[in-house]
Amino acid sequence: MALFISFEGGEGSGKSTQAGRLVRALNDMGVPTQFIHEPGTTNLGRHIRELIKGSPWGRETISHEAELFLFSAARAELAAKVLSKASEESRLVIVADRYVDSTVAYQGYGRRLPLNLMDSVNRLATQGIMPDLTLLLDCPPVEALKRVGQIQAGLFDDGDSVRRDEAGARRFEDEPLAFHRRVRSGYLKLAGIEPERWLVIDGTKDEDAVFDSVWEAVTGMEKFRHVVEQSESLERDRAPEHLGETTLFPLSGSQRGC
Ligand code: TYD
Repeated sequence: MALFISFEGGEGSGKSTQAGRLVRALNDMGVPTQFIHEPGTTNLGRHIRELIKGSPWGRETISHEAELFLFSAARAELAAKVLSKASEESRLVIVADRYVDSTVAYQGYGRRLPLNLMDSVNRLATQGIMPDLTLLLDCPPVEALKRVGQIQAGLFDDGDSVRRDEAGARRFEDEPLAFHRRVRSGYLKLAGIEPERWLVIDGTKDEDAVFDSVWEAVTGMEKFRHVVEQSESLERDRAPEHLGETTLFPLSGSQRGC
């Protein structure tokens, strides 16, 4: 089975940067990776992303229930077309920039949709495929939203949002601070309920320090060592001749220098 790692966090938490760094570091080690970004990755997922973030109807909002089903439809497609196969691969690390916990945090805690009803939808959408490790980049919303330029010189207050670039284009970033606070505390509750899966990382630290924590957590996993061993043995099997750890490549006539 593949090792499945997901990144979670609010807006401006730096999770996409860290997910990208993890994929690059794994590639540098020669470990095969599959990167997924939610909503996205599949054709349907990319269309749904446009619908949700780009809102073709201008300022008209999508109902919270419909929003839940849009994210869930994207995830169902991802599980059926990508994850079900990828998760069976023992030499693979799947790195997800958001997964089903985003739905619980945003639609459940943020939008206040009933968590018990959402649970069935989530299990159906994911086919029960869950991450082995979920890294939560935890950041107080005031600080995180400053990073994405949503809070300017104290203009943001609890009841309202600061600005909208285009109608509806920044659906979640424009939500009131109270929404982001509910999302953050929702994430922390989830991490508290399932501490064996979650690691909470202080997202206010500098990028390198955060990545050190990410790397330490990933490389410390037994399943990670297993994936690395499997991919090394694949490399050895592929090599033309091998003696223990040293691979000998037969030289062609011209390379022999004669
Ligand atoms: P994200 O990929 O983090 O946005 P960005 O384009 O800035 O990288 O996620 C898109 C938005 O969708 C983000 O605000 C969180 C939200 N979201 C949900 O509300 N529910 C979900 O299930 C998912 C996956 C994302």
